[in-house]
Amino acid sequence: MNVYDSHRIGSILKNLGYTPTSSIAQADLVIFNTCHIREKAAEKVFSDLGRLKIIKDERSANGLDTIIGLVGCVVQAEDEEIARRVPFVDFATGPLTYHRLPEILQKVSKDRETTIIDTEFPAESKFDFLPQNTSMGGASFLAIQEGCNNFCTYCIVPYTRGVETSRPINDIISEAKILVAEGSVEINLLGQNVNSFHGIDQSGKERNLAYLLRELAEIDGLKRIRYTTSYPADVDQDLIECHRDLPQLMPYLHLPVQSGSDKILKAMNRRHSRGQYLDIVGKLKDARKDLQFSSDFIVGFPGETDSDFEDTLDLVNKVKFCQAFSFKYSRRAGTPAAIMPNQVAENIKKERLNILQNLLSSHQLSFNKESIGKIMPVLFDIKGRHKGELIGRTPYMQNLHAEIGKDFCNKIVNVKVIEATVNSLSGIVEGK
Ligand code: 5AD
Ligand code: SF4
Repeated sequence: MNVYDSHRIGSILKNLGYTPTSSIAQADLVIFNTCHIREKAAEKVFSDLGRLKIIKDERSANGLDTIIGLVGCVVQAEDEEIARRVPFVDFATGPLTYHRLPEILQKVSKDRETTIIDTEFPAESKFDFLPQNTSMGGASFLAIQEGCNNFCTYCIVPYTRGVETSRPINDIISEAKILVAEGSVEINLLGQNVNSFHGIDQSGKERNLAYLLRELAEIDGLKRIRYTTSYPADVDQDLIECHRDLPQLMPYLHLPVQSGSDKILKAMNRRHSRGQYLDIVGKLKDARKDLQFSSDFIVGFPGETDSDFEDTLDLVNKVKFCQAFSFKYSRRAGTPAAIMPNQVAENIKKERLNILQNLLSSHQLSFNKESIGKIMPVLFDIKGRHKGELIGRTPYMQNLHAEIGKDFCNKIVNVKVIEATVNSLSGIVEGK
């Protein structure tokens, strides 16, 4: 979501006459787009800002002004901290108000002393004020929903991105058509909780994600559709049937489970049990046989015992995720779990994370190895390190490297997989 937000911020700045630079010492304006989900991400901003302050001072000694801005969830959660710890920041705006950047920058240019902070939860939708979304290449992001009403007890998102809102169907369809016209063959629908999507259609009727997916599948030239992130309890029959019916819907689904222990899932305020999760995975697999899953995991949630952790490992062995993201529980001030008793010691969290990641990697490697010898359609969109090398994604979201030349960039090409490691595949183009 932050990559997408940064892309949109880039468009605003382009309209204001800014051009990007790869040298930070040359930048008249630097904006950090921040994440508050775990402590490590949030603290990184403050250390990066310390380094930037030195550059700002050096530029100032040479008579050059530097505007420094912060955007994103850290601003929403830590506005007072920002004013106290990094007063040299010129402006700070939350994730829901960055469409106001043109006005904010105007205010900054008039007053170089005060830090302008905007952490309002606005009545308006930023999407109505942003410049037209533009293609990011062969694959683009499209935000369809923002915010979350789930209030998992560990999570800061409902407090920073606000309550769930869905964009109108028509806006999404016309944006998707523009992205396709600009060369995108894949669209990844984004939101904190995309499968609780309830956008209104032209007649004012609320529609679900399945309806939207079927509408998008009608767009000529849109070859791949993905959506992320989904909440297990909100996977309905309609959505399952989309996986059966729509070939454009890629056979890879990010469906975070967080823990395999019912006791911990309850304490996390997740609206699904371990059994329900496994049931949904089974139904989705029945609908589309080759569907693969990825997930998020938190280890060391308050009260997690060895036996709860064993339940997580057991669930991992049952589902055999093809990819996964796993984290040590991080206390976020203001969330219910931060003040729960029985916080887990850091060394135990570390040990459990290590065990879990080794297991997840072993499944990921097996899945990747099974790809060897297969021919897969790969969407190439990133330049590799070697001359002529491109990196792309298979339908199952595996990174695949191939030496095929830049003419294939942003195209879907059939590739024979010849090698596999935990994190990537390599292959040769069929018929070349
Ligand atoms: N500590 C650790 N991980 C967290 N996540 C969200 N909040 C926390 C936290 N306090 C993880 C969840 C979520 C992913 C985006 O980040 O696994 O799915
Ligand atoms: Fe956070 Fe996701 Fe839970 Fe919403 S569903 S509170 S975004 S972890």
